[in-house]
Amino acid sequence: MHLLPYIRAKLGHLRINSDREMNKVITLSQFIAEEQSKAMGAKGDLSRLFGDIKLAAKIVNRDIRKAGLVDILGEHGTVNVQGEDVKKLDVIANEVFIDALTAGMDCCAVISEEEEIIRQVNNDAKYIVAMDPLDGSSNIDVNAAIGTIFSIYRRVTPIGTPAKLEDCLQKGTEQIAAGYVIYGSSTMLVYTTGNGVNGFTLDASIGDFCLSHPDIKTPERGTIYSINEGNASKFSPGLEKYIAYCKDVNKEENRPYKARYIGSMVGDFHRNMLKGGIFIYPATQDAPKGKLRLMYECNPIAFITEQAGGIATTGTQRIMEVEPTELHQRIPVYIGSKEMIGVLMDFLREN
Ligand code: AHG
Ligand code: MN
Ligand code: MN
Repeated sequence: MHLLPYIRAKLGHLRINSDREMNKVITLSQFIAEEQSKAMGAKGDLSRLFGDIKLAAKIVNRDIRKAGLVDILGEHGTVNVQGEDVKKLDVIANEVFIDALTAGMDCCAVISEEEEIIRQVNNDAKYIVAMDPLDGSSNIDVNAAIGTIFSIYRRVTPIGTPAKLEDCLQKGTEQIAAGYVIYGSSTMLVYTTGNGVNGFTLDASIGDFCLSHPDIKTPERGTIYSINEGNASKFSPGLEKYIAYCKDVNKEENRPYKARYIGSMVGDFHRNMLKGGIFIYPATQDAPKGKLRLMYECNPIAFITEQAGGIATTGTQRIMEVEPTELHQRIPVYIGSKEMIGVLMDFLREN
């Protein structure tokens, strides 16, 4: 929290595109270094790990921005004009992040949506990274926002040995940092280490992430609800009634709410965090555990939500307190503005 006066003093009249104001720009690396210099016993290894993540994010960003050229260069599963195999972008993103973390030496193991088992990286390092290298991948072909989600834990087994399941299956409350990159109309990296949430926008002209959204707080109540309503026939009675409530006309309470859902958790969450809203991926009759993954989708987003002043629950339990039992575990999620989650919980309890 000591950072805030520093940020405010530094920000002044932040204009990241003006050379004249350049001395007011705070880059992601500067910000993390400053944050870590205030952390007790920090040795700089978390800053380096963030450096690796930042580098991978810039490479993935470049690849995504070229994705439209795939038709020219060759489709997935074919051989492109240069004689190379064309891979899916989520596989590429996975490789880019693992390569950067391997080169960086500060990550001992990775759990990833794209890896069935633990991916051992460097036995002598102390951090575990959980990640969804490309979230919302169905949106790649249609030019809508997609993302990368990550979460960082400290290993619990001794350094110098391969990471074990107990290192990787820690509760969300044990996260030491979490974040996401959103590849949208601009590219942003948003993260928390438990001292609030800060957002950095990639300035392509200087090739760096610059502080653009300091100390993000989500509104206590909003007017957006985000859920795949195509599944409505499988919703619980309580959820069905809550959705009807969202659509009810009530001028004082700003209802009907706005329905917004693009099918990228990062994109839907980012909008709702900034504007105020609720994001739901519930348990349904067909999928009683829900769809989204605890370790690399829900926990990092839950940490950010709470740090921004919101709530992240499974409907019965705080997401960050769920005891993980498997790497690719799924849970139902209700995430967003405090008051909206409170009302939703009343509906779920009463029905
Ligand atoms: P991914 O692309 O990593 O598999 O994640 C997709 C997820 C999440 O981003 C999104 O909220 C949800 O799936 C959308 O699911 P539906 O298409 O079932 O609505
Ligand atoms: Mn995902
Ligand atoms: Mn994914």
